[in-house]
Amino acid sequence: QAFFKPILNAAPPSPTKRHSKISVIGAGNVGMAIAQTILTQDLADELVLVDAKPDKLRGEMLDLQHAAAFLPRTKIHASTDYSVTVGSDLCIVTAGARQIAGESRLNLLQRNVSLFRSIIPDLVRYSPDTILLIVSNPVDVLTYVAWKLSAFPSNRVIGSGTNLDSSRFRILIADHLDVNAQDVQAYIVGEHGDSSVALWSSISIGGVPVLSFLKSQQIAYEKETLENIHKEVIEGAYEVIRLKGYTSWAIGYSVASLVRSILRDQRKIHPVSVIAKGFYGIDGGQVFLSLPAQLGRGGVLGVTNVHLTEDEAQRLRNSATTILEVQAQLGV
Ligand code: NAD
Ligand code: LAC
Repeated sequence: QAFFKPILNAAPPSPTKRHSKISVIGAGNVGMAIAQTILTQDLADELVLVDAKPDKLRGEMLDLQHAAAFLPRTKIHASTDYSVTVGSDLCIVTAGARQIAGESRLNLLQRNVSLFRSIIPDLVRYSPDTILLIVSNPVDVLTYVAWKLSAFPSNRVIGSGTNLDSSRFRILIADHLDVNAQDVQAYIVGEHGDSSVALWSSISIGGVPVLSFLKSQQIAYEKETLENIHKEVIEGAYEVIRLKGYTSWAIGYSVASLVRSILRDQRKIHPVSVIAKGFYGIDGGQVFLSLPAQLGRGGVLGVTNVHLTEDEAQRLRNSATTILEVQAQLGV
């Protein structure tokens, strides 16, 4: 029995916008930070949580549902059974082992690859047209693994990559120069992790290229200062893990920004993990690493042609080699 009676001679309701369904796999620290940011930013009509622990999962689902009176309207479901993900527009994978203090991301590889062998085929079976957004670490190698296991076209498999590292970079530069981080255009590319590459030559603030501005004003800046900022970006995650045990809020906002660009077809540029062969002299095997990519409803729409110095391009190729060496041990 409908709560509202239709008015006289009313036509049946037609949908006013496309229904969007997002599944988040893994309801741990990262999955829940992503879920709650998606809800508060009104990015989905339907949000599904999947985890292997049924009690924790139901607890998280109920806790979010109880906030309905304060949030935009979103249907929230949860199940340990992947059939609940059927017809998802976007599947965000956060399930898996995380680092303990001092441990590197690459150390998680074997544990998380076996998990992916069980997760990815189920996601593909229930949502053959979905876009896969991988967050579990090591994210670049796992994005490659998800691409192989799904057999999806490469534009529909994306790793959250250095979108997060670039935010860490932007806030450090912003603090250094006393400007707003949102006005700083600056990219970290390559591996999400220890071999990432800072693109100093293309940083701009409000349209002003930063390094050439400092040079023209004869403002001294030390190469060491720049290297320390990049070191701080790399160390940032290790420090948060040492202090609170895991990282969650920044990755939650970082992924929500990707979700908005993809599902709302924003065609914004984000440094995310994409198939990189053929760009900036990266050849050899198939490798996923972060490059500035345009994202929209079709997933990855293209990679932008940022000018890199020879030193930056070489560092990027070294980052690709690091990831390829790890991948070679996989046998996927
Ligand atoms: P967590 O331990 O809090 O959560 C992991 C969740 O995965 C748990 O709830 C667990 O039950 C679930 N899980 C395990 N096996 C599963 C399966 N087969 N199916 C469904 N769920 C399963 O860990 P976390 O802090 O949320 O971190 C999750 C992952 O995200 C880690 O790999 C971490 O390194 C990574 N991470 C990535 C980034 C990034 O920038 N890419 C940032 C932060 C964390
Ligand atoms: C991050 C995780 C640990 O916050 O990859 O960078």
